[in-house]
Amino acid sequence: MSQRRKFIKKSILGSLIALPTLSHALPNLYSSPRKKEDGPLILSTWNHGLPANAAAIKKFKETGSILDAVEIGVKDTELDLDNLSVGLQGLPDREGITTLDASIMTGDGSCGSVAFVRQVKHPISLARAVMEKTPHVMLAGEGARQFAISQGFPIEEEKLSPKAQKAYDEWKKTSNYKPVINIENHDTIGMIGMDAQGNLAGSCTTSGLAYKMHGRVGDSPIIGAGLYVDNEVGAATATGLGESIIRICGSFLIVELMRQGRTPQEACEEAVRRLISKNRKDISNIQAGFLAINKDGEVGAFAVQPGFNYAKADLNKNELIDSKSHF
Ligand code: GLY
Repeated sequence: MSQRRKFIKKSILGSLIALPTLSHALPNLYSSPRKKEDGPLILSTWNHGLPANAAAIKKFKETGSILDAVEIGVKDTELDLDNLSVGLQGLPDREGITTLDASIMTGDGSCGSVAFVRQVKHPISLARAVMEKTPHVMLAGEGARQFAISQGFPIEEEKLSPKAQKAYDEWKKTSNYKPVINIENHDTIGMIGMDAQGNLAGSCTTSGLAYKMHGRVGDSPIIGAGLYVDNEVGAATATGLGESIIRICGSFLIVELMRQGRTPQEACEEAVRRLISKNRKDISNIQAGFLAINKDGEVGAFAVQPGFNYAKADLNKNELIDSKSHF
């Protein structure tokens, strides 16, 4: 055997022998300091997060599933007739058509999403069906609607809610196409949750940017932009102008920063700094906010502009917290 081959053989053997020692030295990535009696921790964007969190906690008590909790929690917002940024009652695109985006993810890497979908009341449940019943991650447009029909989802009449119709009629007077988001101090609902064993899940659902171009898709259904969850590290979700968030893969970036040792707060702040650096030209018109949790149950939130808030709930408390912002 040549000297080189002998060396390679020895090195491989050496590393195999060293492996068990090395693995003992690694921290247990799946452990969580939370105790069973602590129950779940649920976080969601904006003040519509309060009722959504309450629905999520209720579901968790029934099934003990953090995935069920984050799905049912945001379904509450998808049904809220006063909400103009989530669900079929959300503001339409500039053709007067409401199209919805949603995604769902668990900490083992399972994920599903739907984009540019019409006439489906609960895009979050459709996203979960994509995750659980197809070999795909994302379905869009008419294909997503056809999949909804095949799965027995009811198809709703395509009609704007009275509130959305009134706002759209007003907008049409000038038809000023200016992608400003969060002007009403709420937007997409992003929800992330963790059970006492450290299992994470997240959901994100929106009707997207008001009066957007027909066909426009935001960050919410894009895994890594509007939502990212990894049981080894933590989870993050985003709200705000989707284009600015997609440019930096916002939620994935935050989870990766936490993987490198940043706290959720530090990671959210770094993501906002990155977002500002990649969107300098329009930054005064852009709002975006991030929400994150790590395996220790530490929470972070940060936004570009003031006004972002989030709801935090466990078995005992459900509170609205103001986020800090860059400006
Ligand atoms: N964050 C929602 C959107 O941009 O569509």
